[in-house]
Amino acid sequence: MSKLKLGVIFGGMSTEHEVSIASGYSILKNLNKEKYEIFPIYIDKNGEWYNFREISKESAILDNNLEKINDIYSYLKKCDLVFPILHGKYGEDGTIQGLLELLKIPYVGPGVLASSIAMDKVYSKIIFEKANIKQAKYVYIRKDNNKYIYIDEQFNEIKDNIQNICKKIQEKIAYPMFIKPSNSGSSVGINKAKNIEELEKYIEYASTFDNKILIEENIVGKEVECSVLGNEDVKASVLGEIAPAEDFYTYDAKYNNAESKLTIPANISNELTEKVRKTAIKAFKAIDGKGFSRVDFFVNTVNNEIYINEINTLPGFTNISMYPKLWEYSGLKYSDLLDELVELALKNN
Ligand SMILES: Nc1ncnc2c1ncn2[C@@H]1O[C@H](COP(=O)(O)OP(=O)(O)O)[C@@H](O)[C@H]1O
Ligand SMILES: [Mg+2]
Repeated sequence: MSKLKLGVIFGGMSTEHEVSIASGYSILKNLNKEKYEIFPIYIDKNGEWYNFREISKESAILDNNLEKINDIYSYLKKCDLVFPILHGKYGEDGTIQGLLELLKIPYVGPGVLASSIAMDKVYSKIIFEKANIKQAKYVYIRKDNNKYIYIDEQFNEIKDNIQNICKKIQEKIAYPMFIKPSNSGSSVGINKAKNIEELEKYIEYASTFDNKILIEENIVGKEVECSVLGNEDVKASVLGEIAPAEDFYTYDAKYNNAESKLTIPANISNELTEKVRKTAIKAFKAIDGKGFSRVDFFVNTVNNEIYINEINTLPGFTNISMYPKLWEYSGLKYSDLLDELVELALKNN
């Protein structure tokens, strides 16, 4: 049997470039070389595409191992299937998925619609609301030509100065509150405000990443994550629990602070675990998810409520990342998980 020609795309133009390189390396190392002929593709921060020759050395990127791909279309057309393991903008947001759709190349992970909904925190919330999934109360604002716009529940737009907008937000949500660029990842641009001065400052800061900004009430509870896998018939993994080393799960707490702890399985009751697993599948289906995703929640063990936080359609994929770890604990090895993702992508085609 001839080998499946599998393109693995990593790097990318987002703030999560480095994380994607780590995910890409892990995947390249663990793919079964008997089954796949691998085409490793690296996209640099400027969006230039390269054929990556060396796939065994971690430092290889820095070496002379890159060969510029001038004709991206022809290069991609050589692949039977592509695994885009790009996190964040231009990777997890439906754009590369759209390119692959146009080229008629099957790919691992959710399609254009699910990717773009999940990447946008405001639009994710609108879908979760429709699906009646509990989540943090929120306010949506936009910045347009240096003016702020408060968007109410019926999508009416109220233009005002930042001070008045902050006053309106305070009337709806209590401090502390979370301020997030609608399109973000790895906690970039996210802050927690304790008062109106901070609220104003963090809104201005978030607006440097995206003109859509989400303000959320603070949810008190454990952070738990669930891996889902499947197209129509979707499975949910055991749950993982995160105890961030900092006040919340910031970029540093995620990647630089060894004190952040991951616990598998999460230390919550069976009843709450089942509720999270069921809701994870429901949310994944609600956004039209296919293939795989990691669905993140807050769980309040005092009042037994669960709140969805977000869906990551291309979650971190190093061999110590939560997504594959949860499957490993559920009995599915990293390399077998890769095979299953490939199968799902082929079936979905
Ligand atoms: N409403 C909230 N209540 C409490 N903590 C939150 C809330 N929103 C975000 N956080 C904290 O901020 C972190 C990053 O927020 P998140 O929305 O997951 O952004 P990202 O997509 O960058 O991961 C979360 O992991 C959590 O620690
Ligand atoms: Mg998150």
